Amino acid sequence: MTPHINAKENAFAKTVLMPGDPLRAKFIAENYLENVSLVTDVRNMYGYTGEYKGKKISVMGSGMGIPSISIYAYELFNFYGVENIIRVGSCGAYSDKLDLYDIVLAQGACTNSSFQENYHIPGTFSAIADFDLLLKAYNNAKDLGIEPHVGNVLSSDVFYQDDVNAWKKWQSMDVLAVEMESYALYTIAANLGKKALTILTVSDSLVTQKETTAEERQNSFTKMMEIALNL
Ligand code: HPA
Repeated sequence: MTPHINAKENAFAKTVLMPGDPLRAKFIAENYLENVSLVTDVRNMYGYTGEYKGKKISVMGSGMGIPSISIYAYELFNFYGVENIIRVGSCGAYSDKLDLYDIVLAQGACTNSSFQENYHIPGTFSAIADFDLLLKAYNNAKDLGIEPHVGNVLSSDVFYQDDVNAWKKWQSMDVLAVEMESYALYTIAANLGKKALTILTVSDSLVTQKETTAEERQNSFTKMMEIALNL
């Protein structure tokens, strides 16, 4: 047990899928996994372990933002022997090449957060995905007939930005989209010698101002899950 996870030792598989929403974790467990059991429920941040195509796999909510995912990722990697965390989330498009429901594989993550100060690095840490996971996800997507976008994302500490044009600076650096967690996930994985990847579905666009509905998001979510579950 850890401060935020009340699962028994060895309750998690080596690979954990992490949606932001714990009810999404429940949905994945109930709809994609077999022989599933709930292994943790502290603060209703549900975690489940089951099987997919005969292989043990876990799924757990991360909550929103860097502080939340960093707590769960650290505890899973450090205390539960987890080796791979695959974040499955949503993002806002910064690039005009991205349409709603497109899939983004976050090759790297930039941030406006002070998270890296925790590590006292004498410079700027570039947070990157594990290459093997990235390559596999890319190939899985191609096999499913999906053309994923691969590149940088921004892990923002702020959802409601006071300067409504600030995102254009990130766009000018070819940052594809914004979300709120991957920088911390990748940095923690690097620090602990573990592997991480973020797979995102575009849920809104800063370029076109278009947004998806919750119901539509549910459908597009299936593509992302198939890429992630077959890693
Ligand atoms: N901003 C931050 N995080 C997000 C967004 C956004 O527009 N869309 C989905 N996750």
